[in-house]
Amino acid sequence: MLLKTPPMGFNTWNSFGENISADLLKETADAMVDQGLAAAGYEYIVIDDCWAERERDPKTGKIIPDHNKFPKGMKDLSDYIHAKGLKFGMYSCCGVRTCANYPGSFNHEFLDAQTFAEYGCDYLKYDDCFRPGTVDTVVLYRRMGMALKACGRDIVYSICHADRDKDGEWSRAIGGSLWRSTNDIHDSYESFMNIAVSQLNNYCYNYPGCFNDMDMLTVGMYGGGDNVHVRTTTGCNDEEYKSQFALWCLFGSPLMLGCDVRKLRPAARDLLTNKDLIAIDQDPEARGIIDVSCFKEDKYRLSVMRHLSNNKIAIGLFNKNGEPERDVQLLLSNCGLPMSGGYGLKMREIFSGEETGIIKDYFVTKIPHHGCKVYIAEVVKC
Ligand code: GLA
Repeated sequence: MLLKTPPMGFNTWNSFGENISADLLKETADAMVDQGLAAAGYEYIVIDDCWAERERDPKTGKIIPDHNKFPKGMKDLSDYIHAKGLKFGMYSCCGVRTCANYPGSFNHEFLDAQTFAEYGCDYLKYDDCFRPGTVDTVVLYRRMGMALKACGRDIVYSICHADRDKDGEWSRAIGGSLWRSTNDIHDSYESFMNIAVSQLNNYCYNYPGCFNDMDMLTVGMYGGGDNVHVRTTTGCNDEEYKSQFALWCLFGSPLMLGCDVRKLRPAARDLLTNKDLIAIDQDPEARGIIDVSCFKEDKYRLSVMRHLSNNKIAIGLFNKNGEPERDVQLLLSNCGLPMSGGYGLKMREIFSGEETGIIKDYFVTKIPHHGCKVYIAEVVKC
């Protein structure tokens, strides 16, 4: 199996859009190692859209890397990234053009997969724009799945189709390693919370080998970056980024960094390398999330739980709306424990280290506006 746990890495899109270059990617690879991100498990450096010349080579039909952005070509860059102990990812589209209007792989799937393999590519994000309406999408995604199998190299297949065709149902079968389940993220609380809530019913489509991809993280952007499609005026604050990272880890999403890791602030670095959260994300059983909120579609609170290996349980409590703080409840019967049934939970909050002792029937805690608490819990007799 190519991926036993969700992939972790960096993607250029959120912060850089079309302003990418070999120098930027090399500096990013350096920073991934120097900032301790590589040691924390982030390994894929993925170039998103806008890396190619506007037209294919008329003689060979091959896509050509942009001469100004990548003057020494892609193999030079992938060698640099591999020498750092990291892996190299690329981007293409199943349509005739990519979403930013560069050549897409439609009818060139096998040639392109071969070209990516020659570059030393380990990961392909495959998007869906400019697709001829007469062609079935799933067939096109299958086609690239076959092309990757034939290219002679293990390449993680990242399906990016925003769940337009119940993608969770077919992505694994056609060779996908992850499938994008949402529209594009913006650097705001509303954007990432909406994404998470929209995935509460997709819990059955997250499994070892093929993961539900909730999009690249905006943690650490703080309203910066060159990409007007993702950037917002103020971005998020640290409390909000804590919630975003906790949600991605609790839901078991791929963790692809979207901030400029060369300029990572210490608070964002500490968060993104939080061992407990990463261990939840990377839990080998890769089980889905369960909504245990007291009220469905509650505008103010969200409570979720997830089974982990070794009889542990992760619990996340979120204050979606309530200044300066709000009580958020966990009703143990929603988690499957009977009221006064002789079993409770013993929990440790991972940011504060605070231990709850044994809780029975219900638990209430104060959480700051847009903040969260995340617990590692075990079921105990009481
Ligand atoms: C789509 C994808 C984004 C990004 C852009 C690039 O919008 O969803 O993640 O890859 O295309 O053009």
